[in-house]
Amino acid sequence: MADSITITNNRTGETIEIPLVDGTVSARSWSSLLPGIWFDDPSFSATSGADSAITYLDGEAGLLRYRGYPIEQLAEQTTFLEVAHLLVRDKLPTVTQLKAWQSEIAEASPIHENFHKRILEGFRDDAHAMGVLVSSIAAMSTFWPDSKDIENPEQRRDETTRLIAKMPTMAASAHRRSVGLPYVFPDPELDYTSNFLSMMFKLGDSPYEVDPVLRDALDMLFVLHADHEQNCSTTTARVVGSAHADPYVTVAAAAGALYGPRHGGANEAVLRMLEEIAEFDNVDDFIAGVKTGDRKLMGFGHRVYKNYDPRARIVKDTAHRVFDVTGMNPLLDIALKLEEVALADPYFVDRKLYPNIDFYSGLIYQSMGFPVEMFTVLFTIGRTPGWLAHWDEMLSQDSRIARPRQRYTGPADRDVPSIDVR
Ligand code: SDX
Repeated sequence: MADSITITNNRTGETIEIPLVDGTVSARSWSSLLPGIWFDDPSFSATSGADSAITYLDGEAGLLRYRGYPIEQLAEQTTFLEVAHLLVRDKLPTVTQLKAWQSEIAEASPIHENFHKRILEGFRDDAHAMGVLVSSIAAMSTFWPDSKDIENPEQRRDETTRLIAKMPTMAASAHRRSVGLPYVFPDPELDYTSNFLSMMFKLGDSPYEVDPVLRDALDMLFVLHADHEQNCSTTTARVVGSAHADPYVTVAAAAGALYGPRHGGANEAVLRMLEEIAEFDNVDDFIAGVKTGDRKLMGFGHRVYKNYDPRARIVKDTAHRVFDVTGMNPLLDIALKLEEVALADPYFVDRKLYPNIDFYSGLIYQSMGFPVEMFTVLFTIGRTPGWLAHWDEMLSQDSRIARPRQRYTGPADRDVPSIDVR
């Protein structure tokens, strides 16, 4: 049986055969048979928009691999900086390469003093940390005008290093500003995640005591968030990057997409949902409200995973290690009850709704002392290497500017009436 499809345009009787290549059919081949006819797929759920060698997902089987390595192994055996190197430099680093990479990142992690004085201090006191971070990332574009040289692979490599290095510094600074604490500058002696925790929580002159269990858990969460194929924010990065915009405004656009509660903002929405449910006995009523369509069970469902999100399983296991240090999060029982009820209820089973990465991650963040407004900021730190890997890959390919077509549903051609008869 041929690995192809044959289609006929019944208007002309013309027929063409199109090969099936890596699970796709070429839209250009279709268009040669159907000039001026577009594929109607508003949320791109049946459309492949990129060729990518970075991440492989199998939603039915619940598989996730970064450059061929299973997420379960990466989460257990590598650090976030090793995974960032894998994503943006296409290989897991050797010991020597990792040391050099750590030095590059440490050297690039400070942000300009003007950032604190003139940009961060311009926000309202109650500004959401994610709004501050998205603006800060875009503002970096004005500090690095050479970043516009996006067709230069060396320049792209430098900007990639800079963004990965500075993201925790900007993130921690957004938090320190919101709680009225003095900024803490990066400490090159600390590893990436310890440095972030120190910049977040250090008080006074004494060094911040990093708990290795919490540091390792957060580092692993960054690994789990590092990339996820053509998700909404990564697609945004590829679209904005296809216009040859600089990497700072490209990553800022991606972070803006991530901020949405349907996407990375879900971890914050889950915590607020659990706090609203508040009592174990309120779970059944809440689930009833979801089934009538009045509410969404935040942290559940996924466009691709129609099985348990493999990352959610790892996060759930990690939660217990964290709670052994921080003490049990009282909202965990409500989350476990929600999961138990939902996984047994036909409403969720029939729609293949399972916990995704955002369902349990917020409980860990809260127990570590992060305010809920920082949850999507943490997702941003993790996803930055993924966005940049896709941005670089897209620019390395013979990519054209992203410009979809539409189905026009507006009024037919008509004359403009003069204002006195409108
Ligand atoms: C992330 O794409 C990625 O890879 C994203 C991500 C990544 O790493 O980048 O994995 C990270 O964004 C995870 C998702 C986090 N978002 C949430 O947890 C928010 C709650 N989830 C939903 O908003 C929803 O599930 C989406 C947005 C995640 C997916 O939406 P889809 O694919 O468009 O699914 P849909 O809206 O078409 O839902 C199909 C059915 C509908 O019911 P019917 O109309 O068939 O009766 O399932 C229902 C939906 O109403 N449904 C839900 C639900 N999610 C879908 N019902 C209740 N609660 C939910 N959470």
